[in-house]
Amino acid sequence: MSDYKIGLIGGTGDQGMGIALRLGLSGVPTIIGSRTKDKAETKAAELNAIIGKELVKGMANEDCVANSNVVMLTVNVRAFENAISIVEALLPHFQPETIFVDVTVPLIVEKGTGSVMTDLPELSATETLRKVIPKEFPVVGAFKTISAHALLHHETPLNRDTYIYGDKKARPVVKEIASKIEGLRPVIAGPMRTARTVEGMTAMLITLNKFNKVTDTGFTTVGV
Ligand SMILES: NC(=O)c1ccc[n+]([C@@H]2O[C@H](COP(=O)([O-])OP(=O)(O)OC[C@H]3O[C@@H](n4cnc5c(N)ncnc54)[C@H](OP(=O)(O)O)[C@@H]3O)[C@@H](O)[C@H]2O)c1
Repeated sequence: MSDYKIGLIGGTGDQGMGIALRLGLSGVPTIIGSRTKDKAETKAAELNAIIGKELVKGMANEDCVANSNVVMLTVNVRAFENAISIVEALLPHFQPETIFVDVTVPLIVEKGTGSVMTDLPELSATETLRKVIPKEFPVVGAFKTISAHALLHHETPLNRDTYIYGDKKARPVVKEIASKIEGLRPVIAGPMRTARTVEGMTAMLITLNKFNKVTDTGFTTVGV
């Protein structure tokens, strides 16, 4: 698929805005979705002002999904059941060729002790969402170990990797999209079960940030 249309469910938050900003700065259009159309339009205008072109559109989540064929989930998942019900409610708007990209990391951040993963029955967010999404839609995980802080500070080069795992046929599409972002190197990280590792790596980054008093640690992989 080269004619991809990228939509971000809950793209009005830091992570969705960061991805849309970096893609926009590389000339790639996106749609950011929200529960509130007006909020999405306001946030899109903020990004377009930085990008200097009208590359980001804001829409209600339903329209965002209906107008995209690569749909990224960037909603807040402090209560992970929310993510499941959000996706279930949006399924009727998926296009027949939609690729679903999970960006969520359901973590518990405890005062003084850093960050650990939330216990989920399927052991990771992506595996849990895979059970919710009908099989005809490929599911991939990406952008999980890239902090919103790093994405939004667009004057600073990213110089880090993102791990892409999940559906074998869809991984190259997501890799191609991620490779458009300057300074971000997409690395194929295997099948769906890698989600458990990658989401744990995000917990590790938050813990590293805390105990080293920094804001945007990340990973680069040696030897690939
Ligand atoms: N922040 C990071 O550095 C980072 C890094 C890696 C992965 N992630 C993951 O990316 C996702 C987004 O992170 P974030 O920091 O951008 O989160 P956020 O700013 O707290 O929330 C993102 C968006 O979620 C939507 N939302 C909140 N509660 C909702 C609900 N009950 N139902 C539907 N939508 C709801 C809101 O959109 P509307 O109000 O516009 O609907 C909000 O703008 C999370 O799953 C996080 O684990 C974040």
